Amino acid sequence: MLKGFLKRFSEERPVTHKKIKPTIIPRSEHSISRNDISRNALKVLYRLDGAGFGAYLVGGCVRDLLFGRRPKDYDIATNALPEEVRKLFKNSRLIGKRFRLAHIVFGKEIIEVATFRTHHESASEAHGKSSHQGMIMRDNVYGDIEDDVWRRDFTINALYYNIADFSVVDYTGGMADIKSKTLRMIGNPEQRFHEDPVRLLRAARFVGKLQIQISPETEQSLMQMSHLLQHVSHARLFQETLKLFQEGALLATFKLLEKYNFLSALFPQTVDCLTQPEARKLLEEALSATDQRILDGKSVSPAFLLAALLWFPILKQTQRFQAENLPPYVALERALQHVIKLQTQQLAIPRIMTTTIRELCVLQYHFNHCYGSKPYRILEHPRFRAAYDLLVLRSIAGEPVSELAKWWTDFQEADHVQREKLLKTTAPARPKKRSRPRRFIKKRNPATPTA
Ligand code: CTP
Repeated sequence: MLKGFLKRFSEERPVTHKKIKPTIIPRSEHSISRNDISRNALKVLYRLDGAGFGAYLVGGCVRDLLFGRRPKDYDIATNALPEEVRKLFKNSRLIGKRFRLAHIVFGKEIIEVATFRTHHESASEAHGKSSHQGMIMRDNVYGDIEDDVWRRDFTINALYYNIADFSVVDYTGGMADIKSKTLRMIGNPEQRFHEDPVRLLRAARFVGKLQIQISPETEQSLMQMSHLLQHVSHARLFQETLKLFQEGALLATFKLLEKYNFLSALFPQTVDCLTQPEARKLLEEALSATDQRILDGKSVSPAFLLAALLWFPILKQTQRFQAENLPPYVALERALQHVIKLQTQQLAIPRIMTTTIRELCVLQYHFNHCYGSKPYRILEHPRFRAAYDLLVLRSIAGEPVSELAKWWTDFQEADHVQREKLLKTTAPARPKKRSRPRRFIKKRNPATPTA
């Protein structure tokens, strides 16, 4: 009954309310062990606690620990002010304009410590500000743990692990939602998605990654909200897209993005190509290979994924330009320019990545040149391996490049003697040279010897 009450309560409750008694889940009734928490996070928690402040792990790390997963980072919430945190830790720095946070730096690991914040509605105009779409623009007012709870997005992200007694503090029914594997927005879902439309993408990411379901009310609202993504800055959309790439559940998440119509806010040109079975197959192969790499503990290249996402739009555009009589290489160059320009109007992809996307696609063109010394030069290219992977994916997806992909597989695995043999015997046909335009021949001096 309590569970049912908490669920109803968390869906219907307006966001800023006080004097709600939390459920305290003692250590004996939850699965979070200090052995699974980063040593550095524990150090920070203990020092805050020792100095008389409240100190709690909160957000994604508590959620992931309760789902039996290893958190990728640790966030701490406290009633210490940022300056007080700064004084306690020599290895800290204060960051952020919108949110003032302390970063405690332990080599590569950074523990983020945030002072409890209150919701903008209860803050003065000087501190909290909303745009006319209801998005929170500035939100930097300190409160207590009760205030802090209600400005979090989903119930499973609003659990606080208290270092003072190792209990979990639950105001929103998050623990019940962890148990029933449910993603549920705190408060009114429509209003909360309006406040920060990035929560739409976060919802898809958590559902894909944790393999959980969305509560009916949250899902109903989310289905009608994709248009809000157009109000999110391209830089933030790109950051969220990178997070989607890193979770090890990209294929599942991709399907959700498509289902909820979020994909067109991120990759509209890709969406236009997905009716082609080859385009869909290529993407699914690329996404599941990425998930496998993450499961194997290997790194993933966002530029490679972006190239895979954009390959079919680029191919389609290249074919269009070729139909206008542009030579293949020029058509490809123009198509790259066109597609990347449109794509960066949606996501702020940094130049270093668009350069890699270009290189990977241009190498697809050079792969056709299996003669003379060119294949050796291609093999030396820093992007060879990733471009070769894309070629193999294209072949699996059903593009007519399987002979070519096989040739490049053999060529890179062969020794020098075998390579020379491959160049002489099995290279796919050398493309014919274009004949010189007549007007060029006419202009030549008749005395000049021809080759
Ligand atoms: N949060 C939120 N709304 C957002 C972003 C974050 O309410 N748009 C809150 C959530 O409570 C979240 C916490 O801030 O748990 C920390 O956010 P972040 O570190 O970005 O994400 P996590 O939930 O920790 O998940 P992950 O680390 O997997 O991204």
